[in-house]
Amino acid sequence: MRITLSVIKADVGGYVGHSSVHPDMLETIREVIREEVKKGNLIDADTLVCGDDTALVMTHTHGVDSEIVHGIAWKAFEKATQVAKKLKLYGAGQDILSTAFSGNVKGMGPGVAEMEFEERPSEPVIIFFADKTSPSAWNLPLYEMFADPMVCAGLVIDPKMHDGFTFEVLDTYTGKAVKLSTPAELYELLALIGAVERYAVRNVWRNHDGEIAATASTQRLSLIAGKYVGKDDPVMIVRAQAGFPAVGEILEPFARPWIVEGWMRGSHNGPLMPVSFRYATPTRFDGPPRVIAAGYQLAEGKLIGPRDLFDDPAFDKAREQAQIIADILRRQGIFEPHRLPSEEMEYTTLPKILKKLEERFYEVEAPKKPVEETSEKHDVD
Ligand code: F6R
Ligand code: MG
Ligand code: MG
Repeated sequence: MRITLSVIKADVGGYVGHSSVHPDMLETIREVIREEVKKGNLIDADTLVCGDDTALVMTHTHGVDSEIVHGIAWKAFEKATQVAKKLKLYGAGQDILSTAFSGNVKGMGPGVAEMEFEERPSEPVIIFFADKTSPSAWNLPLYEMFADPMVCAGLVIDPKMHDGFTFEVLDTYTGKAVKLSTPAELYELLALIGAVERYAVRNVWRNHDGEIAATASTQRLSLIAGKYVGKDDPVMIVRAQAGFPAVGEILEPFARPWIVEGWMRGSHNGPLMPVSFRYATPTRFDGPPRVIAAGYQLAEGKLIGPRDLFDDPAFDKAREQAQIIADILRRQGIFEPHRLPSEEMEYTTLPKILKKLEERFYEVEAPKKPVEETSEKHDVD
C-alpha cells in the first residue's frame, strides 16, 4: 500500500512567551484532524508539541504536496490562531504569513516534511521535532546516521546499505539544491553541510534502490518573509530498520550534544538538548534548543504510537553535557561566538546602531585591504 506521511508544523502562539503551546490550542487542532479522519480525508493523524510549535502528523493516500492535506493543516493552524488571539497568547498567528490559503502551505509560514512510500511489512519511522533552532540542525545527525560508519554500524554490517545514501542539499540563499552520493562524494557533502548558516539537507535516499530514507523541513521563515518573523524550528522524518539504520543508530547522534544556531532571539549558538515530550519546554534564556523524537509503527497507514524515544535514562548524560555546554556558552554573554556573527543575527539591530554612530567614527589608520586582494596575495606567497 502506498502511503504518504505528512508532517506540517507551525508556531501560532506561545504559552507563556515562546515556551509552550496552550492546551486549548492543541484541543482545537485535534478536533480538526479528528474530523478529517472521520470524513476519510486522512487515514490517521496525531499532534506533537515541541516548545511553542505544534506538528500535525498525518497519513493519507493523496501524495506529497496535496492541496487537501495542506488545506487541513492550514485550517487547523488558523483555528488555533483564533484561540491564541482570544487568550492573548504570545505571537498569535506568528507563522501564518498569508491571509488566504492557495493550495500549498510551503512559502506561507508552516514547515513541511513529507514522504510517499510503499509501506513495508513493518514500517518503523521516527519524527524529530526541534524548537529554538533551524533546519540545518539536522545536517550533522543526518551525516552520522547515513554516512558515518563509526556511528551507524549498519553501513558496514548490512549489505543493503553498502551502496550508501544520496543526500539532497539545499542552498537556502539561492533556493537551488544539489544531490551528492556517499561514500563517493562524502567530502564534498561535508564541505557544504558544515556551513550550517547556508546549507540544509532536504532528503536522503538509499542508493541500492532509490528508496526515500529521510526528509526534513527546510523552509526558512526569515528568508520567506524578508525580515524576522520567528524561528524556522524544524521537523524531520526518518525511516528505520531492515535496510535503513536501526532505531538506535538513528538516535545515536543525539547521545552526544552538538552546538546549533538558535536559542535566545534566534541569535545564539547553543547545545541541542534531546528531551522527552514533557521537557520540550525551553525556558532558560528561552532554551537551550530542544529536540524530541517520536517513534511510530505504521499499520496500513495507521499511526501506532508515538513512543517518546528520548524518554530513556541513556540520554541523561547528553542532557547533562548539554547543560555544561550551555553554562560555558552563557558565560560569553553577548560576545561571539555565543552570539551569532552579525550577518546571521535574526534581529539585526547592528545596522541601526552603526547608523546612529556613523557621524562619530573618525579615521585613525589606513583602511584594511579588500578581502579578495588579501587572499590573492596569499596565493602567490
Ligand atoms: C527564539 C524565540 C525567542 C524570542 C524572544 C524575544 O526563537 O522565539 O527567544 O526571540 O523571546 O521575543 P520577542 O521579541 O517576541 O519579545
Ligand atoms: Mg513563538
Ligand atoms: Mg518555536
